[in-house]
Amino acid sequence: MSFTRQQGTLHAENCSLEQIAQQFSTPLYVYSKAALTQHYLDMHQAFEFIDHQICFAVKSNSNLAVLNVLAKLGAGFDIVTGGELARVLAADGDPAKIVFSGLGKTEADIEKALQVGIACFNVESHAELDRIQNVAARLNTQAPISLRVNPDVDAKTHPYISTGLKENKFGIPSDSVFSTYQYAATLPNLNIVGIDCHIGSQLTETKPFVDALARVELMIAELKQLGITIQHIDIGGGLGVVYKDETPPSAVEYANAMRPQLEKLGLKVYMEPGRSISANAGVLLTKVDLLKPTNHRNFAIVDAAMNDLIRPSLYDAWMDIVPVKPHQDLETKQWDIVGAICETGDFLGKDRELSLQQNDILAVLGAGAYGFVMSSNYNSRGRAAEVMVDGDQVYLIRDRETIESLWANEHLLPQEA
Ligand code: LLP
Repeated sequence: MSFTRQQGTLHAENCSLEQIAQQFSTPLYVYSKAALTQHYLDMHQAFEFIDHQICFAVKSNSNLAVLNVLAKLGAGFDIVTGGELARVLAADGDPAKIVFSGLGKTEADIEKALQVGIACFNVESHAELDRIQNVAARLNTQAPISLRVNPDVDAKTHPYISTGLKENKFGIPSDSVFSTYQYAATLPNLNIVGIDCHIGSQLTETKPFVDALARVELMIAELKQLGITIQHIDIGGGLGVVYKDETPPSAVEYANAMRPQLEKLGLKVYMEPGRSISANAGVLLTKVDLLKPTNHRNFAIVDAAMNDLIRPSLYDAWMDIVPVKPHQDLETKQWDIVGAICETGDFLGKDRELSLQQNDILAVLGAGAYGFVMSSNYNSRGRAAEVMVDGDQVYLIRDRETIESLWANEHLLPQEA
């Protein structure tokens, strides 16, 4: 484990989080290079039985240093925008290991992706096929494509992060998969290379993955009948992590559940894990700024807020909040850990049994995925700094935003207006 207590104080690898908070101030995202590496290698080893490529879902954590650590381990990347593509290139990621997901790729993004030679476009509609065909024809090149199919499987996760049901906006509905593949086959600048399926995020059972794969397997067989052969299957991301008392499958359990089907297919396997690699490789440090006990509830106002970490507000996500250096003899109370933003929905956690004093440093665990990347400048708050720990070294990997930078792109009207 990369976040452990040493003499009571929470550490990231060999560095005290208390000292890190002092040195870099708070709110602060802290990542562990060892944890990122371990999570990546766990997944890589779990799929050793088959030719595979892990494409880290950049949306879960897009810091260049994080991407670079993974790129050096051999990771590819799952991107959804031209912005993410540019980040991967800036982090020295290999374009030939990129899969491009997302249902609204722009012409400019497609053009750039074709120019750098990505592995595959995961396509979600007829209109998108036409768009990629047009750009590829203009560039006089071939675009490698997969269709992202919607297997209509219940991922049993939060409705906002469930994507594989027919009422979700994602993927090609199962009843038009074949006609869409056949249409793609008529487009001269498209090269059909695979099939893709992602059913949701934070899945804590293997069954939905196995069910989805069974449906994709049937589709692959039927495609063969139609004369369409593919070289790879992309099983998406979605493996859940422990935030509280979930019992998600380990990487090995996840891989082994699908192993018989994958071995039977014998295709190269692509996968797009985000959270299972980055979530528990990061924490958010925040300082208790003011205590406000009342007759109804006790509020601890901390210096991080929903603009820094929106998961609790947006999904009612429960994330563990622990003291970096616990008090020895201070009574515990039920606290609501809240930010200073003018919204009732601005909280990091409710009803937490903690002993707290002003200036205590708290760590929000599991914050390495969908944390910083979803942060905003709401209430004109500069975004947090990010650091990465490697053994006994701490590196600043993103400066804290200055207030002036928040309006650097804004302009007054001319004075006479
Ligand atoms: N591939 C595709 C096509 C996706 O849409 C996603 C996540 C992933 C891969 C990575 O899934 P993961 O392995 O991280 O579960 N903001 C939400 C999560 C949104 C997930 C969106 N898609 C949260 O904080 O829980």
